[in-house]
Amino acid sequence: MNLHIFKNKEKMSHELALWMCEVISVVLKEQEYFTLVLSGGGTPKILFEKLASKEFRDKINWKRIHVFWGDERVVPFDDARNNAKMAFDTLLNHVDIPAGNIHVMRTDMEPNFSAEAYNKILHTYFANTSRSFDLVLLGMGDDGHTLSLFPDSPIIEDDTNWVNSVYNAKQEMYRITLMPALVNKSSKIVFMVEGAKKAKVLQQVLEGEYMPIKLPAQIIKPKDEGALHWFLDEAAAKELHTT
Ligand code: 6PG
Repeated sequence: MNLHIFKNKEKMSHELALWMCEVISVVLKEQEYFTLVLSGGGTPKILFEKLASKEFRDKINWKRIHVFWGDERVVPFDDARNNAKMAFDTLLNHVDIPAGNIHVMRTDMEPNFSAEAYNKILHTYFANTSRSFDLVLLGMGDDGHTLSLFPDSPIIEDDTNWVNSVYNAKQEMYRITLMPALVNKSSKIVFMVEGAKKAKVLQQVLEGEYMPIKLPAQIIKPKDEGALHWFLDEAAAKELHTT
């Protein structure tokens, strides 16, 4: 497991932006395009803003980047909670990426139909390959959830489907989410975790007993162990014994 620990969220985001530029440039020397999964929530906002800034905007050939989401809240696109909206506002509206390269999880249809439609799109990319995405960005909640895989969720043990829709009773909303069966075949997976409130659960996820039903982030285990990276700030990493 690759731990990258930085003083604060700003530094973590800056270093991750640099790291992503390097990873993308190496892959695009060998491949026609790069498949990138964006995470939702608030943590990646600074990273997205950096990637859209003068310093980074031209370091990535966005014409050759294909963008997906790890999960989506089933709320209208113009709702502030919509993950795609946040990514467009902070990044995608500011870089030269063709619209056809952007694959949002649609929230203007029944959740199960949206999951099915997304699954069809993913199969046009990965049906005949043993690998999936080139890079997946993930966040982790202070309850150990990732994507829209929440503790005790009925879909946690689904190791077949690539995409699911699921109702989150606590948030009183449906979610669309990628599933481990697809995510774990990615070439690189990065968790971005910051803040003291996640320190305890991060220590349990990384160093505690393997119990993915309670700590869903543990279910992200790429075939190649070296593919998993954790970008952390010091506050989130403070309970770890293995830094
Ligand atoms: C979402 C996310 C979710 C997120 C974590 C962390 O839609 O909420 O995809 O998995 O990454 O909840 O969220 P924060 O970055 O806001 O703490």
